[in-house]
Amino acid sequence: MTQPSLFDDTDTDALTAVHFHPDFSSWQQRARQLLMNETPPQRVWWQPDHTQERTVTSSSDTAIRVPKSFIAQARAASCHRSDERWALLYHLLWRLTHGERHLMQLAGDPQVAKLRHYAKSVSRDVHKMKAFVRFRAVDDADGDQRYIAWFEPDHFIVEYAAPFFERRFANMRWSILTPDCCAHWEGSGELWFSEGADKAAAPEEDVVEDTWRCYYRHIFNPARVKIQAMMAEMPQKYWKNLPESRLIPTLIQEADKRVAVMARNAKSSERLRCGPRPATPAQELDEAIRQSESGSIQHLALAAQNCRNCHLCETATQVVFGEGPVPAKIMLIGEQPGDSEDLAGKPFVGPAGELLNRALAAAGLRREELYLTNTVKHFKFRAKGRRRLHESPHEEEINACSPWLAAEIEQVQPSIIICLGATAALAQLGKNVRIAQDRGKLLAGLGRQYLVTVHPAHLLRSGENPREFQRFAADLQVAAEKLNSLGIK
Ligand code: URA
Repeated sequence: MTQPSLFDDTDTDALTAVHFHPDFSSWQQRARQLLMNETPPQRVWWQPDHTQERTVTSSSDTAIRVPKSFIAQARAASCHRSDERWALLYHLLWRLTHGERHLMQLAGDPQVAKLRHYAKSVSRDVHKMKAFVRFRAVDDADGDQRYIAWFEPDHFIVEYAAPFFERRFANMRWSILTPDCCAHWEGSGELWFSEGADKAAAPEEDVVEDTWRCYYRHIFNPARVKIQAMMAEMPQKYWKNLPESRLIPTLIQEADKRVAVMARNAKSSERLRCGPRPATPAQELDEAIRQSESGSIQHLALAAQNCRNCHLCETATQVVFGEGPVPAKIMLIGEQPGDSEDLAGKPFVGPAGELLNRALAAAGLRREELYLTNTVKHFKFRAKGRRRLHESPHEEEINACSPWLAAEIEQVQPSIIICLGATAALAQLGKNVRIAQDRGKLLAGLGRQYLVTVHPAHLLRSGENPREFQRFAADLQVAAEKLNSLGIK
């Protein structure tokens, strides 16, 4: 092993080789012994050795009085990757205890400056670890869930930073794998550490990754894009382990366009009786998502809350997610929430919903047994004075919302999906479906049956013709009868 440069002018034969486990308390303990023996730094050859026992200073060790600022910085600097660090710490300790008590105040002193530089690099590395560790859920050999993260720190910071993760994720079982050292927490007990691991030992994706990306897209504020600051805060070397990083180039590209839409919409929504609700604070939403069962309908409804997949979120009051039992035999899909639904945050509670309730009852269906949702989850409207007039959603808005609906169908697992109106029918069955020809028939598609009919708002617009109402109820009845014939209640 070559001598660290701090010893360059030393006669190596006269050196005392100090073998110690390379952690701060083992170094501290050896440094105390050396000080007690009045061994000057030029005579010490620090030999870090992982096979050595860890040692901790005990109460019987002689107390050495040094400024607190030295201890704090020395502890951080001891995690630096430089081979010189142990020698540097002992040099400083020696000087502090041999007539240079105020040494730490001499910022220009080369050794003090080096200590500060080391401590600062380590703090920055710890900060990045706290920000960029991403856990992925896996089932371990016992079928229990464990969260595993892969991280490549610049310095030897795993043991130093691990208590933060223990406090932050106290109820989870987790492991943070790095090339030098791995930290593990079993949800209680004590943190434990093992040797470095290979990246292949960590999972690359998990089931909530898409939800997380969706969430990130929604909280990304296009009006606050500062590319240089972003690159400084999230250097590119961390990107490869961050699920959200692949979204960033597109989010940046789209930012100007989204800001222009926001500005335009802000003007029109100022006059309206309701505008977008402020997004739920990220931390609160994060916590609620974490507490809901992963992949459940509540989990989805929460994640959808801050949806920013299309510009409709800029003017609508809130996301109107689906409602009803899960699973449910029948799912009804409308077009989008109307004015009342937008304000209430619930589907089909306005005039169209009231007409739908009557038609369901006439068809022998109980609303509380059905799952009701919409193709698009935000209200699209045009402002006219203080009124908000319904506007049909475009294909891009329907597509932007389609992952939410697909996830709802996956959860609800309906035997029959009833499409109310052309938007829902088009989104579910494609362009070949014609409401006028196909209404009231059971259609096969994607492993389940579909029934298309008119939208209740269409009946309202045409003056609620009793014959049309009867026809609408008769269409719905086809689904009820099908369930009965299958003996499904
Ligand atoms: N129209 C719809 O399509 N959905 C609603 O929730 C209300 C009106």
